Amino acid sequence: MNDDSSSKIRILVVDDERVVRDGCRRVLSGKGYEVLGAEDGKQALGLLEAEPVDLMLLDLKMPVMGGEEVLEHVRAHRPDIPVIIITGHGTVDNAVECMKRGAYDFVTKPFQVEQFLLTIGRAVDKRRLEQQRLFYEKEKERNLYDLSLEKSRLKTIINCMANGVLVTNRNLEVVLHNPALTRLMDIDQEIHPPMDLTRLTENPALIDTLHKFQSGELPPEDFVSQEIETGKHVLRAISAPALAPDDGVVGTVTVLEDITAFKRLDEMKSDFVNMVAHELRSPLVSIRQQHNVILEGLAGPLQEKQADLIQRGVKKIDQLLELINDLLDIARIEAGKHVQHRAPTDVEKIIRETVELIRPRADEQGVTLSVACDESRPVQADPKGIGEVLSNLITNAVNYSPGGGRVEVAVRKRGDNLEIRVSDGGVGIPPEELPKIWDKFYRVKHPETRQVMGTGLGLAITRGIVEAHQGHIDVESEPDRGTTFRILLPMMASDE
Ligand SMILES: Nc1ncnc2c1ncn2[C@@H]1O[C@H](COP(=O)(O)OP(=O)(O)OP(=O)(O)O)[C@@H](O)[C@H]1O
Ligand SMILES: [Mg+2]
Repeated sequence: MNDDSSSKIRILVVDDERVVRDGCRRVLSGKGYEVLGAEDGKQALGLLEAEPVDLMLLDLKMPVMGGEEVLEHVRAHRPDIPVIIITGHGTVDNAVECMKRGAYDFVTKPFQVEQFLLTIGRAVDKRRLEQQRLFYEKEKERNLYDLSLEKSRLKTIINCMANGVLVTNRNLEVVLHNPALTRLMDIDQEIHPPMDLTRLTENPALIDTLHKFQSGELPPEDFVSQEIETGKHVLRAISAPALAPDDGVVGTVTVLEDITAFKRLDEMKSDFVNMVAHELRSPLVSIRQQHNVILEGLAGPLQEKQADLIQRGVKKIDQLLELINDLLDIARIEAGKHVQHRAPTDVEKIIRETVELIRPRADEQGVTLSVACDESRPVQADPKGIGEVLSNLITNAVNYSPGGGRVEVAVRKRGDNLEIRVSDGGVGIPPEELPKIWDKFYRVKHPETRQVMGTGLGLAITRGIVEAHQGHIDVESEPDRGTTFRILLPMMASDE
């Protein structure tokens, strides 16, 4: 059988009697075996080295080298080959002795063909089974080797990654991490998995996200991206649940990227925009004042045409100044500096003042402005910021109501919050546009509001201010029916 169980079994018959060798050859060839012959032990060992052999029939008494010596050699060097001793009736004891020393079985001369073939058949089966065992053992070894190779390859890849990797199990214990993680998160302790996540990071946002994935509060197809600050680094952590084949959550996987350099660049960009806006504002303000002087006739009388041109110039300058103010606001919000001076703020008063400022423009457009106030308790806020929020929302409500109509500002108490609603019956916003209106510079294209001037910064600034006050803003809108913006601001306790 050699290595392949389908190939012919090769039997080596070692006997100094030619008749025995020939007899064996005849009987065994007839059963499909291949037969080799050797007339003494030495010849047999030579053949064993040169040829593949599956089974050996071995006479004990031979010239040159006897069977016992051959058996010893085969057991030592080819233990996989079963050896069957050929023995005469009187020497069975010797054969039994040989079996103790490792022979598989014995046959007695003269052979009983049936008995002889039975013994050979058993030895062949043993040989085949042994070969199969060896084959599976090798296969197992190879599989184990492949597996360990694959494992070590994966480990090498994860360990060489520049991004940090953090894997937790069902109990939110860290079960896998890489050196980049310890470096990025400034961890100096040894991590011995499984280790409780909270011993590795105290970041509440990250821990909360991983908890939510594990408990199923976040859908399994989601991933969450969040910024984390450690002592030296700003990191972007992208987390997702680890799913079993049946889609059950068995843990979480987080990849952390170092975005410190990007953050620095972003800051530089904001500083730059801030600086340019500042530098532009002063000369523009002075040009605006000079135009006013001319318009008021203080620099000599103006003809109608001249006054008209100067007036148009003033309008453009005002637009430019508004854009610059918006840019400065954005820069301030991004730097997180907006709510520096909080004071008890009377929201109703600010609403009424803002409405009066916008009323001339609303009248021009046939929009009726109304205020309904059910709650007058103050909120702890930056009055300038709240003024800006209301001005943005009410201006939008008027601007995007080209056909006139009613704009209502309503204030009431809602739990611990003050709720401010600004509703209009204007053009509305299509549902697919709703999430984008908060983006900087985003403006919805609508044929009826094409002439409305704007930069698309108003709502970005508004949301920034509301959130800096720990408040919340959302919007409901129906195309052609109108829009309602709703703000919730935490109210002061009555004894504050
Ligand atoms: N009340 C509203 N009704 C309909 N569309 C609105 C309303 N408010 C905002 N939008 C849409 O959202 C977009 C973004 O509003 P945002 O206030 O941020 O910018 P803007 O009004 O275009 O410019 P500005 O920065 O001068 O305010 C608007 O361009 C408009 O398309
Ligand atoms: Mg606006």
